[in-house]
Amino acid sequence: MNETVIRVESAAPYDVVVGSGLATRLQGLLGDSVQRVAFLYAAELAEQAEPVVQELLEHYDVLGLGLPSGEAQKTVAVAADCWEALGERGFTRSDAVVTFGGGATTDLGGWVAAGWLRGVRVVHIPTTVLAMVDAAVGGKTGVNTGAGKNLVGAFHEPAGVLCDLALLATLPEADLVAGLGEVVKCGFIADPEILRLVEAAHIAGDKITADSPVLAELIERAIRVKAEVVAADLKETGGADGHPGRETLNYGHTLAHALEKHSGYSIRHGDAVAVGCVFAAELARLAGVLSDDIAARHAPTFAKVGLPTTVEELGVEAGFDDLIGAMRVDKKARGSVLRFLVLHDLAVPRILTGPSEEQLREAYAVVGG
Ligand code: GLY
Repeated sequence: MNETVIRVESAAPYDVVVGSGLATRLQGLLGDSVQRVAFLYAAELAEQAEPVVQELLEHYDVLGLGLPSGEAQKTVAVAADCWEALGERGFTRSDAVVTFGGGATTDLGGWVAAGWLRGVRVVHIPTTVLAMVDAAVGGKTGVNTGAGKNLVGAFHEPAGVLCDLALLATLPEADLVAGLGEVVKCGFIADPEILRLVEAAHIAGDKITADSPVLAELIERAIRVKAEVVAADLKETGGADGHPGRETLNYGHTLAHALEKHSGYSIRHGDAVAVGCVFAAELARLAGVLSDDIAARHAPTFAKVGLPTTVEELGVEAGFDDLIGAMRVDKKARGSVLRFLVLHDLAVPRILTGPSEEQLREAYAVVGG
């Protein structure tokens, strides 16, 4: 299979390589000065990680650290255990971390790399669609605390990212579909060709699976969207000419985060994002900034890849009043004023400030019944 290399043109540019069986690429991304590598992997993926371990063992002194799975691993305590292990093994500033897993692993491993000696090289090998198109690219790292998700962390860009599509063969279908939520989001905020590809696959009767030829192109396009956005605004300070910069990536996320919190984090992030985008589109339509046609294109496009588009389909029981509190503490909110990432057109993202409660309730009615 061909490899595609997407360059992230940030202050320290790096490559995201998309292909199959990419372990031999590791040495090139890690560079020549590295002697020791801490390999932080999701423990349940030990078998899939074996080719990477073999490749690392050929070139480096390897410290393997298997992590507990999912969001549960993203704690200060697990990071502290990793730092103790690096210390015992004598890791220096010229050594490196390699992560292997979903977004929780790349977030935690990225933070371990960011914290050790104030920052060592890290290469991510994401194993889910969601991590390939979002978590592994752009340098956001962190852990969860009692107060909430991702409240502690650092911007620490990787030295490279290897997206090995062969790893998706063992990804549960529901996780693959959820990952497509972030991909379709990228279609609306920046690259409408993604929407056309999804619609064409649907018309042809092709369900998008790990084997679908179109999956590689969808993932590559979504990574390009993320790469361009983070290269222009790594620290989320805002874009130019009205473009919201990195906040654009949070399309649909204000409602999605509220739904995730309300569900006790029992739902998939990408599923919640799909519902959140449908809500944001309706809000923009009601605010008079988005056309009826583009708002109406949201739900069917997400549904075409098998994503939920209503709160009921998401399996969450929540009325508007259950969610508005969480939306008010969203990272985009300023004081008591709600801010939403909305579209004025396809690929024209803007911030909508202070929509009325009536508009919010009416928009919620479309997804919440
Ligand atoms: N996941 C959103 C961001 O990386 O900014």
